[in-house]
Amino acid sequence: MISKSAYNTKANKLGLQFSSNARTAWGHIINSLSKDKKVTLLLPAYIGRNDKEGSGIFDPVLEYDTNYEFYKLNEDLSVDILDLINKIKSGCIDVILVVHYFGFCRSDMNVIQKLCKDNHVILVEDCAHAFHLGRTNQVLGNYGDFSFYSVHKYLATASGGVLKTNNPSIKLPNFDGDKKMEYTVLESYSNSNFQEIARIRRDNYLFYCKHLKTNNHLEIMFNLEVDDIPQTFPIKIKNGLRERLYFFLLENDMPTVALYYRMIEELSSVDFPTSFAISDQILNLPVHQDTNESDILKLVDGINNFFNSVN
Ligand SMILES: Cc1ncc(COP(=O)(O)O)c(C=O)c1O
Repeated sequence: MISKSAYNTKANKLGLQFSSNARTAWGHIINSLSKDKKVTLLLPAYIGRNDKEGSGIFDPVLEYDTNYEFYKLNEDLSVDILDLINKIKSGCIDVILVVHYFGFCRSDMNVIQKLCKDNHVILVEDCAHAFHLGRTNQVLGNYGDFSFYSVHKYLATASGGVLKTNNPSIKLPNFDGDKKMEYTVLESYSNSNFQEIARIRRDNYLFYCKHLKTNNHLEIMFNLEVDDIPQTFPIKIKNGLRERLYFFLLENDMPTVALYYRMIEELSSVDFPTSFAISDQILNLPVHQDTNESDILKLVDGINNFFNSVN
């Protein structure tokens, strides 16, 4: 019989589940994969913690009591592929987490995906900073067996996360209770124009580039490429001045963040000097959709005034 209305509840789905935040989604992945045995996670060696928010990446790892190891990152926070291969070859890795820091991915995800497939390792993409959901031809967030997102880092909501399943052969249970996204956040998510938000963030990013590219006291971490949607404008501050600049801007009503100024204590500066060097220099300037060109010019002035005052 021909049905007069659609009846297949499973077809044409995007594989999304809506959670209270990104760490809940990540914890849900870890917990679900740990049901039969204790899993070993391979994590990137750039993970921070602060007193207010804890560690979005590492707290779920501790909560579900897994084994873990770290792999090295390069100066642009891309994956050190040789180190990743060496660690995978040890044979005990079950899950690899790749983080697209600040919305940028300069790793070859096709290579990483193949490595994971060939070695029967589950790949998870942390897209907490890389909100590519709703994009036509979305690429980032589709490499992993799973990816997860932080809605409140992208939209003006107090909470919200998304878990995306790309490998339908691994079924995760639904979120329940307070792990679910709040209804008002879901409304905001459904009602947001992601293309427009991405456009504003990209425009803001380019505006910073134009005004900061000749500043010798700092290094712009990434040139904006066609597929990038920036979460912030990350710069490296030279000559050990990051801390002072951060407080100078704060005192002048220009709060910024430094992701991550303090690393988790499980990471050692001897094993991962590149990560610690980034941590000492990083400063993230706002590019969000409620920032405009005059805000950016103020920040640029603030930064210039600071360097003039220390010279
Ligand atoms: C890279 C990264 N992943 C995951 C998280 C967790 O995000 P949420 O605050 O939505 O749990 C954060 C932030 O804490 C983060 O910076």
